Amino acid sequence: MLSSTIQAIIFFSLILLYPSNGQLNATFYSNTCPNVSSIVKNAVQQALQSDSRIGASLIRLHFHDCFVNGCDASILLDQGGNITQSEKNAAPNFNSIRGFGVVDTIKSSLESSCSGVVSCADILALAAESSVSLAGGPSWNVLLGRRDGLTANQGGANSSIPSPFESLANVTSKFSAVNLDTTDMVALSGAHTFGRAQCQFFSQRLFNFNGTGNPDPTLNTTYLATLQQNCPQNGNGSTLNNLDPSTQDTFDNNYFTNLLTKMGLLQTDQHLFSTNGSSTVSIVNTFANNQTAFFNQFAQSMINMGNISPLTGTQGEIRIDCKKVNGS
Ligand code: HEM
Ligand SMILES: *[C@@H]1O[C@H](CO)[C@@H](O)[C@H](O)[C@H]1NC(C)=O
Ligand SMILES: *[C@@H]1O[C@H](CO)[C@@H](O)[C@H](O)[C@H]1NC(C)=O
Ligand SMILES: *[C@@H]1O[C@H](CO)[C@@H](O)[C@H](O)[C@H]1NC(C)=O
Ligand SMILES: *[C@@H]1O[C@H](CO)[C@@H](O)[C@H](O)[C@H]1NC(C)=O
Ligand SMILES: *[C@@H]1O[C@H](CO)[C@@H](O)[C@H](O)[C@H]1NC(C)=O
Ligand SMILES: *[C@@H]1O[C@H](CO)[C@@H](O)[C@H](O)[C@H]1NC(C)=O
Ligand SMILES: *[C@@H]1O[C@H](CO)[C@@H](O)[C@H](O)[C@H]1NC(C)=O
Ligand SMILES: *[C@@H]1O[C@H](CO)[C@@H](O)[C@H](O)[C@H]1NC(C)=O
Ligand SMILES: *[C@@H]1O[C@H](CO)[C@@H](O)[C@H](O)[C@H]1NC(C)=O
Ligand SMILES: *[C@@H]1O[C@H](CO)[C@@H](O)[C@H](O)[C@H]1NC(C)=O
Repeated sequence: MLSSTIQAIIFFSLILLYPSNGQLNATFYSNTCPNVSSIVKNAVQQALQSDSRIGASLIRLHFHDCFVNGCDASILLDQGGNITQSEKNAAPNFNSIRGFGVVDTIKSSLESSCSGVVSCADILALAAESSVSLAGGPSWNVLLGRRDGLTANQGGANSSIPSPFESLANVTSKFSAVNLDTTDMVALSGAHTFGRAQCQFFSQRLFNFNGTGNPDPTLNTTYLATLQQNCPQNGNGSTLNNLDPSTQDTFDNNYFTNLLTKMGLLQTDQHLFSTNGSSTVSIVNTFANNQTAFFNQFAQSMINMGNISPLTGTQGEIRIDCKKVNGS
């Protein structure tokens, strides 16, 4: 009896000594780097002065990081030494993902203020939030305490990041593989309210869609004419287009109102609304009609995405240079 009471006391004391071990929280750096959020936000704001697209590029980095080996900054590792196949060179990232220079700038400034403390994986999560809020979108309390991985997984990046040519069922299963549900998938797709996409990722819709000899019937004919001009047949596949033609650099719910008028740019975007009978249709309608509902869900879904298999405690390391494993 007495010994079981003592055991219980020891057990609960241990829980108090190690609160939420393995879980992220918003105050992780409150003693060790209290200004981390404003340092990141100031750097993103600075970068936006010369590159209005950079916020979009930064949130995409966090997404492509989290879907591969969890949110561990594996996407930032350069090829070389033990890193024989970088994620940067994976199919969804090569000649497409950007923002590495800004991440390095943020890291240098954090090394000056609080050396060896803030992980590169947390920088990506913080930069994503700053990018959204600075573009007029929601703010949220970013959960922190991730540590940086020691490996990259190029094969994982090839197979786990959704492609714009896939079916809705396949995209849905890639989100579900990282524990994100259909509502998360629709909300997070709303990040295509800013940023750019190259012609090569949607030109299959413009002239001879799926062997029909005609454009994709779910593409607005007025919008189609503009896209055909910007992306002519045999033109340069790397020409850029706004993902949201109505408000290109603003974070709002126009991505969803665009889907209602058949103005989704990627085939996978339009699928969310134009797949008859899909449970995504009513979610798109809700977000198109109520920006507050979208913003609230987007913030929650970003937290969900940021929670994908983080390294915590003594796992991994705090990288000094985001491009390299320490000591390499
Ligand atoms: C649902 C599946 C998704 C697919 C198939 C997809 C695909 C793509 C593609 C093909 C591009 C253009 C890349 C280029 O032209 O180089 C792009 C850009 C972008 N994606 Fe996605 N994406 C998806 C989900 C997401 C999610 C979940 C987020 C963030 C939460 C996101 C954020 C972005 C942003 C902001 C851009 C513009 C980046 C820039 O301008 O640098 N995407 N996406
Ligand atoms: C946040 O997490 C760290 C590491 O797990 C822990 O030391 C700290 O007590 C947590 N803070 C709160 C408020 O739970
Ligand atoms: C935190 O940042 C703010 C503004 O960027 C600055 O005024 C303040 O002095 C900083 N505080 C510390 C403790 O570095
Ligand atoms: C990933 O895809 C690229 C481009 O298709 C290919 O060159 C590379 O070999 C693939 N990597 C792995 C590890 O499968
Ligand atoms: C969906 O995934 C299956 C299994 O990986 C694959 O065979 C199929 O080609 C994919 N469909 C599309 C449209 O991408
Ligand atoms: C493309 O064509 C194939 C064969 O004609 C058909 O089974 C498939 O459903 C079509 N896909 C789309 C997206 O229309
Ligand atoms: C396509 O454009 C990119 C930059 O936008 C350029 O680097 C490349 O050389 C161009 N390719 C061709 C075939 O013109
Ligand atoms: C196409 O877009 C225009 C405006 O951009 C809109 O007025 C029209 O209703 C759209 N067509 C369809 C079929 O949604
Ligand atoms: C979906 O339904 C609409 C109208 O009910 C119809 O015009 C369209 O062809 C259908 N699309 C597919 C892919 O079955
Ligand atoms: C919009 O969504 C918010 C958050 O879910 C909700 O509180 C509000 O009632 C909704 N507004 C309308 C007009 O439905
Ligand atoms: C590189 O890999 C070797 C063999 O696994 C290991 O001993 C070494 O510590 C690794 N180097 C770094 C910097 O991680």
